[in-house]
This record gives sequence, C-alpha cells and structure tokens, in this order.
Amino acid sequence: MLAGLMPEQASELAPRVDAIFLGLTAISAFIVLLVVGLVVAFSIRFRRGSKANRDALPNLVSREFEIGWTAATLFVFVFIFWWAASAEIRAFVAPKDAIEVHVVAKQWMWKTQSANGVREINELHVPVGAPVRLILTSQDVIHAFYVPAFRLKRDALPGQQTEAWFKATKTGTFHLLCTEYCGTDHARMLGRIVVMEPEDYARWLSAQPEGDDLAHQGERLFTARGCAGCHAPGSAVHAPDLAGLWGRAVQLAGGRTVTADGAYIRDSILQPKRDVVAGYEPIMPSYAGLLSDGEIQELTAYIRALGSGSRSSRRLGEP
Ligand code: CUA
Repeated sequence: MLAGLMPEQASELAPRVDAIFLGLTAISAFIVLLVVGLVVAFSIRFRRGSKANRDALPNLVSREFEIGWTAATLFVFVFIFWWAASAEIRAFVAPKDAIEVHVVAKQWMWKTQSANGVREINELHVPVGAPVRLILTSQDVIHAFYVPAFRLKRDALPGQQTEAWFKATKTGTFHLLCTEYCGTDHARMLGRIVVMEPEDYARWLSAQPEGDDLAHQGERLFTARGCAGCHAPGSAVHAPDLAGLWGRAVQLAGGRTVTADGAYIRDSILQPKRDVVAGYEPIMPSYAGLLSDGEIQELTAYIRALGSGSRSSRRLGEP
C-alpha cells in the first residue's frame, strides 16, 4: 500500500512515524480536495447569469455551521497533537534496560563506544530486538545522527549531550548518515548500523579485542588528570565526595536542587564555578578545553560506577 512508498522500516518507531506521516498527508489531502472541490462547484453554480438562489443563508443555519466546523477543526488538531506527542515522548524516553552507546561525531566520522568498551568507527553493531540508548556529542561542529530505516534523527552538538534510542526489529545493515551540513566532507560522513541476531552479536562481541570499559578508563583518567587530588577521601582539600553521588539530589549554593546525572557532571567539570554545591568553596578550575568529550564520558562512567549508594570505597569492583 502507501507504506510501500516509504523507506524500509527496521525499528519499533518506524511504523509509528510512518503512520503519523501518512495520516497527516491523508488529512491534508482530504481538506485540500474538499476546499478545491467546493471552490470549483460554487464557481460553476454561481457563475454569471446562473439562476441559482443568491439569498444569504438563514442566521440559525450559519451559526450551527460555525460551531460545527470550529469544533471539528479543534478536535482534529487535538487528535494530531496527542498522536504526535505520544510518539515523540516514546521516541525520547529510553527503556531502563537499554544497551548504552556513546557516540562522538567529528569532521567527518562517527566514533562509537559501548559501555562494555567496544569501540567502532563509522559502524555500530547491535542485537536485534534490544533497546539501544545513544548518548551523542560532537567534538567540533553540529552533526546529526540519522538512520532512515529507524526513522531516527538527533543532533550531535559540541559541548552538550543529546540522547536518542531505538529498538531494531530486523537484522541487516542500515545506512547511518550525517544530516546536518558540517563542512567539506559532510556528504561522506557515512556509517552503517549492523543489526545481528543476539547469538551472532554475542559471538561478534567476544571476538572483539579485550577493551577496558568506560568506567575503568575514567578511573585512570581521574588519577592522571589530578581529580583524585581533591576528590579522594582523606584529601586535605574540602571537595565533594563523588562516591554515591550518581542520581542523588544535590543542593546548590543558590538554593536550587539538581539531580546528579550526566549533564550535571558535565557542567560541573566544564563550568564548576557556575553552580557550586552548597557548603563548598568555588575552588575547582574549569576543565573546558582540557578534557575531550570522550574523556568526559569516561569520567562520567566512572562516577556513575562509584554507585548511587553511600560508599566510601573509590576503587571499582570493590564491595
Ligand atoms: Cu557531520 Cu554533516
């Protein structure tokens, strides 16, 4: 049918997006045809010299008309809003058990890294039927992650994190495109998403070189970049303890409370003086320009791995 005109559907979201697109097209086509039809019909009926009755409609009839089509239009718009908004909310909120993949865009390639440490360039292997959450950022200019078969499109912005998720419903290889003009080789900023059966994916995964996971890389960085100097327990510097920080509500000096999530940690590293934690001095220097986006992701993974309970240990893997 009409859906056959659309690109291949390979994610859970794709049929929903197509239904909305085709539905809106059908509603618009219906209204255009109705209006054009009436214009043509009235032009013929009331042409010069025709004997048609040109008296105004009785008042009562025109009031009923007025109320009727206002209510109908309102209903159609509210319905469209609800339809699109419910799909949009679904498209933004990833399931809790989703596989996490960090994506860093740069001129002109896609670098991906899964939480288990597997890194790929211009490629991403995922199992079919499993939700995959993407955490996107850019190293230079604005790019946009676009997988037509998944009906998935999200900007990758320098200095910010954006998120998207998908659940592939078909195995195969699907195009990944950059859909934000980003310079000379924008058109060549291509990749592919390889969707595999879970067993094939497990086999592929075990064949990958043993990589350190993000959290362990972050742990090394934490020491190498001197973070531990202030944030380690027993440090003479009065700095917030990071163990158990993840997901907790943090009271800021201004009185505001924020949740310690990825965006908060990123801001705290890049603009530490903007929102100081209540009870602490604004002594931390900004690491903007000193840490790459990939390194911030690693540090975030480390802080997250330190847990959301109250643990004093800061070695990974210890109870
Ligand atoms: Cu990256 Cu266009």
